[in-house]
Amino acid sequence: MSKTIQMTLSINGEKREEIVASNETLLETLRRLGYVEVKSGCEKGDCGACAVLLDGQAVDSCLTLTGTLDGCEITTVKGLGSVDNPHPLQTAFIDRGAAQCGYCTPGMVIAAQSLLTNDNATPSEEEIRVGLSGNLCRCTGYTKIYDAVIEASEVLSKKEAS
Ligand code: FES
Ligand code: FES
Repeated sequence: MSKTIQMTLSINGEKREEIVASNETLLETLRRLGYVEVKSGCEKGDCGACAVLLDGQAVDSCLTLTGTLDGCEITTVKGLGSVDNPHPLQTAFIDRGAAQCGYCTPGMVIAAQSLLTNDNATPSEEEIRVGLSGNLCRCTGYTKIYDAVIEASEVLSKKEAS
C-alpha cells in the first residue's frame, strides 16, 4: 500500500491542492486530472512524448514523482498558448507542417521551449538536433520540426528586440 501526500501544484497557472500516492508519476497525475495533452509513450524516459516544463525546465513527466513537487509550477503545451493566442512555437509547427500524427508534438514543443528559453535563444539546426535528441518522432523525419524551431526562434528574438 503506497502512502499519500498532500500538496500544492500550479498547473498552467492554476493553483491546485492535490492528494497523490507517493508512487504516482507526474504523467499519471496530469492525465488523471484531465491534462491529456501530455502524452504517454514509453513511460521510461526514452521518447519525450510526456515532456512538461517543471519550473521552466523540460522534464520527462513519466520519470518524475508528483509527491516531490510541492509548490512547483508545471506547464503543459496547452499552458504555452491557445488556439486564439498561440505561442510562436505552436504557430511555427503548424506553418512548417511539423506535426503529422501529432503524438510527439506536445513534448517536442515543450522541449523546444526549454531549449530556446534556458539554453540557446537562436540555435543552429545542429544545436536544435542535439537539444531535441530526447524526443522521438516516427512521422516527420525531423527536418520540418527543426525548421519550425528556427522560425519560432527568429520570431521570439524579434519580439525580444522590439
Ligand atoms: S513517456 Fe516519458 S519519456 Fe516516453
Ligand atoms: S508527428 Fe507523429 S510521431 Fe511525430
